[in-house]
Amino acid sequence: MFFLFKKKKKSSRVSIDKEMPKHIAIIMDGNGRWAKEKNLPRAMGHKAGVETIREVVKECNRLGIKYLTLYAFSTENWVRPQEEINSLMKLLVEYLKNEIEELHKNNVVVNHIGDISKLPQKCQTELINAYNKTKNNTGVVMNLALNYGGRDEIVHAVKKLLKDYEKGNIKLTDINEKSFSNYLYTAGMPDPDLIIRPSGEKRVSNFLLWQCAYSEFWYANIYWPDFTVEDLHKAIQDYQKRDRRFGGVKE
Ligand code: FPP
Repeated sequence: MFFLFKKKKKSSRVSIDKEMPKHIAIIMDGNGRWAKEKNLPRAMGHKAGVETIREVVKECNRLGIKYLTLYAFSTENWVRPQEEINSLMKLLVEYLKNEIEELHKNNVVVNHIGDISKLPQKCQTELINAYNKTKNNTGVVMNLALNYGGRDEIVHAVKKLLKDYEKGNIKLTDINEKSFSNYLYTAGMPDPDLIIRPSGEKRVSNFLLWQCAYSEFWYANIYWPDFTVEDLHKAIQDYQKRDRRFGGVKE
């Protein structure tokens, strides 16, 4: 029934001759407001949000984007009503079960970041199965950020680093920004070039705090379920016009 609400418009297209972001990260915001405006339960907003995920993953893969990180459940989201949490966890299991074959066929790597040990066992099992099945694929790496928080990630990384230090695996003089990055959930991945946040909010909300140091941000007044492939193209086009100096000066 969700196609009734979805707008399909495709016109402006990014130029793949210009520099493409290697890593796009998205705060999938506005599902609740989308549902409220339609007098639907919030869970329906999340369900409609999954439809958007499907299209965005397909398009990122087609465009040759290497990494796509989707903020699906934060360390702060546990304060939501239990009913909503349950429906999100159920949606995650359904998504992985129903779409894994298609994702695998499309060469997508289904990865996760965050402390998934706190998620229901079913979610953990599906996430691990999905990763094991797709880990050797060469298309876009989709990072599902689940029970993810930027601060929590940094604390987790510090603890891991200290364990290595205690074992003598790393010396104080070897600790720097580069080596520290390898203790994060995103170890081995480039930092996000572009962070997209629909829904009108202009906050970072504890997302990729370490990694967003030099990310370009793109905000839009569109709820995530209404976000289209065309909006993705607009965000990338806008990114391609940005002058990224990383603290330097333009030649
Ligand atoms: C934020 O919108 C959205 C979330 C906290 C959940 C995002 C989850 C999905 C899109 C679907 C589940 C994910 C997978 C991978 C199957 P909000 O609910 O805070 O919206 P609001 O600010 O309008 O209330």
